[in-house]
Amino acid sequence: MREKIVAGNWKMNTSIEEGRQLVEDILAGMDRVPEGVSLIVAPPFTHLFLIAHLLGNRKNPGLAAQNCADKKSGAYTGEVSASMLASVPCGYVILGHSERREYYAETDQTLLEKIKLALSEGLRPIFCVGEVLEDRESNMHFQVISSQLREVLCQLGPEDFKKIIVAYEPVWAIGTGNTATSDQAQEMHAFIRAFLAETFGDLAESTPILYGGSCKPSNARDIFSQPDVDGGLIGGASLKADDFLAIAGSFA
Ligand code: 13P
Repeated sequence: MREKIVAGNWKMNTSIEEGRQLVEDILAGMDRVPEGVSLIVAPPFTHLFLIAHLLGNRKNPGLAAQNCADKKSGAYTGEVSASMLASVPCGYVILGHSERREYYAETDQTLLEKIKLALSEGLRPIFCVGEVLEDRESNMHFQVISSQLREVLCQLGPEDFKKIIVAYEPVWAIGTGNTATSDQAQEMHAFIRAFLAETFGDLAESTPILYGGSCKPSNARDIFSQPDVDGGLIGGASLKADDFLAIAGSFA
């Protein structure tokens, strides 16, 4: 049985007070989360310490950062290291989100550095891959995704790979309201698993692969019902506890 995960990527949203309220509302509704489903919240850096405190010793929800530095420590003004995140403590870090690849010029090479540092600090990376609309329309989407996987995840050893969570987030579906159909999601998730199996064999059977891109309560059940979809990475809808919990409830 693969892990089932619903993770909320808050992006650059919420004040500390709003973030605190959101977590309290999620905690108050945890009885809506089916057994065996893990929630993860990924607030901005500034909120992590407070939210770690609110979560206390709970394993569920887990806590993720949205990024980390590609350097270990030192004179890198404005950066936050993997070891700082581990000391919060944070359990996870989102890496390779398309917004970071596009707006902050993150490359496969920097992402590989970040992943290695995160893993060395005991953080589990949630590694995002996804194609832009042009890639899909020119039938290049499988090639784009395989390259993103080959240059980063396939460079890891098997022990490190075991900790990885993959998120497939088609860029054309993020924040647009245009969700991938459940068939499109399943097709790509199965492709990702088969591609990873070429390097990691049976280990890829256990890799959670989450779908992200305009996932909401009204479409989550259909998407999550697909055999290779192990949950979701939720943007906009994770900012409302009720919607986030309803999405997590879609596994029932
Ligand atoms: P939306 O759910 O807002 O489309 O965002 C998805 C996403 O980018 C999660 O990382």
